[in-house]
Amino acid sequence: MIIAVDGPTASGKGTIAKALAAHYGLPHLDTGLLYRAVGRQCAKNGGNPDSAEDALAACAFPDDLLADPELRSEVTGGLASRVSIHPPVRQALYERQRSFATQPGGAVLDGRDIASVIAPEAEAKLFVTASVEARAQRRFLEMQEQNRDVALEDIAADLAARDERDRGRKDAPLVVAEGAVEIDTSDLRREEAIAAAIAAVEAFRAG
Ligand code: DC
Repeated sequence: MIIAVDGPTASGKGTIAKALAAHYGLPHLDTGLLYRAVGRQCAKNGGNPDSAEDALAACAFPDDLLADPELRSEVTGGLASRVSIHPPVRQALYERQRSFATQPGGAVLDGRDIASVIAPEAEAKLFVTASVEARAQRRFLEMQEQNRDVALEDIAADLAARDERDRGRKDAPLVVAEGAVEIDTSDLRREEAIAAAIAAVEAFRAG
């Protein structure tokens, strides 16, 4: 069984994808991490994330970069969003995601274009959303836990800018794929969001 979990940043899609993977005993791939690695590598190379050529060169990042905690930062998230608009970058990362999705036994993948591009044949397609306010508040708390000093308004502005870029790009924009079920986590606690996601997957399986 392939489970596709798409949605904007800080919507709770990562938490939901991890919980679904544990529940069904499936491997999980956070595809945003691949784009984050490209963004980070591009910066390390001294490249410009808005240049398709520089961004493509950064796709040759070493695997151990995926374990770098800096990948989780807002700065790297912004770079990831910028490198991800270039079609050659999306192509370069396609095969890795596709083979993960199609491994025997199935998989859970979360990202922006899993149900629309990477695995349109997925049995279960979830689109996880939440209001900008709820997402900014969550990110803010996460940042505080990591002792990072950022203002709530700055986080909200960053999220809104990133949403616009991810939705507005020509190649594989963030969309609710046909047949996907939307889960709005704005007013849900973690356990409630996970329960809603499992119920949605069960509904897909029941056909
Ligand atoms: O989910 P995230 O915040 O880690 O993703 C970071 C950026 O990577 C996001 O702003 C857009 C890009 N991305 C993408 O274009 N396609 C994906 N499947 C996953 C992420």
